Amino acid sequence: MELIQVNQFGGPEVLKLISQPTPKPGPMEVRLRVTSIGLNHADLMGREGQYKASTGEPPFVPGIEAGGIIEEVGGEVDASRIGERVVVAPTLPRPNAGPHGGTYRSHIVIDESQALLAPDALPNEQLGAVWLPYLTAWGCLAWKDQLKPGAVVGIPAASSSVGLAAAQVVKALGGTAIGLTSSPNKAQAIQSLTTSRFDHIVVTHDKDEQGNRTMRPWHREIKQLTDGKGVDVYFDPVASGEYLSAEVRSLAKGGRIYIYGLLGDPGPVDLSPMIIKNASLHGWVLDEIVQAGDAHWHKACSEILRRFINRTFEQHLSRVYPLAEVQRAHEEMAQGRHIGKLVLVP
Ligand SMILES: NC(=O)c1ccc[n+]([C@@H]2O[C@H](COP(=O)([O-])OP(=O)(O)OC[C@H]3O[C@@H](n4cnc5c(N)ncnc54)[C@H](OP(=O)(O)O)[C@@H]3O)[C@@H](O)[C@H]2O)c1
Repeated sequence: MELIQVNQFGGPEVLKLISQPTPKPGPMEVRLRVTSIGLNHADLMGREGQYKASTGEPPFVPGIEAGGIIEEVGGEVDASRIGERVVVAPTLPRPNAGPHGGTYRSHIVIDESQALLAPDALPNEQLGAVWLPYLTAWGCLAWKDQLKPGAVVGIPAASSSVGLAAAQVVKALGGTAIGLTSSPNKAQAIQSLTTSRFDHIVVTHDKDEQGNRTMRPWHREIKQLTDGKGVDVYFDPVASGEYLSAEVRSLAKGGRIYIYGLLGDPGPVDLSPMIIKNASLHGWVLDEIVQAGDAHWHKACSEILRRFINRTFEQHLSRVYPLAEVQRAHEEMAQGRHIGKLVLVP
């Protein structure tokens, strides 16, 4: 089999394609021929040595999402599962978990219980791109926040895979989705997607002739769009000082801000309006629902897969790269011009 190994932290050039013997599944295990590996911002951080809690020290195999087709089963596993199209459960894998972890590989051995049957509506190249966008959004908004119908949700990084999924989750829960994106071009591109479910898109930045970006006072547009009431929930992976300040200013009474990424530069935030608004600020990480126990994440996963069957949820793939071109895929993600999910296919 082929896999990508990182032998030292660094830029995209440290991602090396190597060959190894294909592993055999043990008792209660299955081996997948991987058909799809979702690329995530966390993979870039891991490669650079900024996410050691997940990667450990090199060498490791990057990647935290995968899906594929069961091609061999170990002892005590029903042989009728051979040929099943499956999504690898969100509890697995971890890049430092040896043959069970790090999904940048052509074949992977996992516990049988971690191979979740995929609906026909999910094509092979999307099997490895479900949990990070959809369980991150569903877990925070449906499971943790218990979002009510009619709620207005602000979604920064609207063009990201999580942002696009979050809009679909908000609509499925009966809310209004306002996306925030960095440029008019991206706003137009998002609006033209058949998979976009945003009710409104707000542009957050202006660019001068030298290419320098300055933030617009976009909280005013949010106030206008919500008739002065503000947003009930912000679901935010940017979390820069200036973003958070604008969010606090345009938050409704009783509003909640969930921070789930650190894409922006940290900076001072004026939190004082939160007192009068009786508002709250929370961190969110997908692992919270996984750690809550099997019953919680299993229910969420089946809710999500059910919505792929009836096409409430539809994934937009920005681009599919062969596994051997992983360095180019990382470069593209770092540039931040893509819209939706980048995927590797072995
Ligand atoms: N907490 C969790 O459990 C969890 C799970 C999954 C992902 N995440 C986090 O969610 C975020 C999005 O993940 P993704 O894989 O969907 O990423 P992605 O597709 O690469 O999204 C990046 C987008 O974020 C926006 N952005 C805004 N400010 C930015 C900045 N200062 N630098 C870079 N990008 C900026 C841009 O979109 P616009 O131009 O539209 O603004 C950019 O295209 C990442 O921070 C990731 O770590 C967290």
